[in-house]
Amino acid sequence: MRIVLSIGGSILVPEEVDVGYIGELASFLVDLSSGNEIAVVSGGGRLARKYIDAARVFNSSEALCDLIGIDASRLNARLLSAAIGDTATIEPPSVFQKAREELERGKIMVMGGTHPGHSTDGVSALLAEYVGADLLINATDVDGIFDKNPREYADARLIEEITPEGLMDIIKKYSVDAGSYALIDPLAVKIIQRSAIKTIFLNGRDFKNMEKAISGKKYRGTRVKK
Ligand code: UTP
Repeated sequence: MRIVLSIGGSILVPEEVDVGYIGELASFLVDLSSGNEIAVVSGGGRLARKYIDAARVFNSSEALCDLIGIDASRLNARLLSAAIGDTATIEPPSVFQKAREELERGKIMVMGGTHPGHSTDGVSALLAEYVGADLLINATDVDGIFDKNPREYADARLIEEITPEGLMDIIKKYSVDAGSYALIDPLAVKIIQRSAIKTIFLNGRDFKNMEKAISGKKYRGTRVKK
């Protein structure tokens, strides 16, 4: 199976770099890579936001803030590659052609952002489209897509299945400023929709659950209806 995993910066770097989690994720990916081709797109997380906020103090443009966010996501990609070791790409590819080559060489391909104007969710959807992935997993620090923000509302309900249109409806009220994409960015939804990419949202901290989702068993998360 060819799998693209978008791993939210919010789990890699919640406040500080979560070395313990990154180590566990690396082992999980190495196990998963026997029998599967794995591409990972890492987010920028707190690191991106810290630097973007600092750049805003100097009235930097949104595009420059985006570039700073891309650098942060690439730094996280390097760290995850280091944790995985020899089976991972050393240099995070910045173009999809190179990413695909690495994947076809049998490497666990780890990359960050590419261009301003979207988030690493957009990158993962474009990459999934380009490499013809069988599955796109969007992993964050919550269990999937909820009817309201689960960090604020205890009664938020997990949506088990959603259409791309429904997803777009939920995210359209959110900002697309650098460093502030909520849930998933609009570009990612458009790409998932146009190529009917099999996509699931789940909690990136629960490896057992992720394994269930990959092997077609019942899992906790949100599935995007094609
Ligand atoms: P993230 O993908 O981490 O964005 O990239 P996010 O959704 O805001 O944060 P997470 O998922 O909770 O970690 C960080 C920032 O880098 C820029 C955007 O400004 C984004 O918000 N970026 C990233 C780009 O402009 N292009 C890319 O390809 C990737």
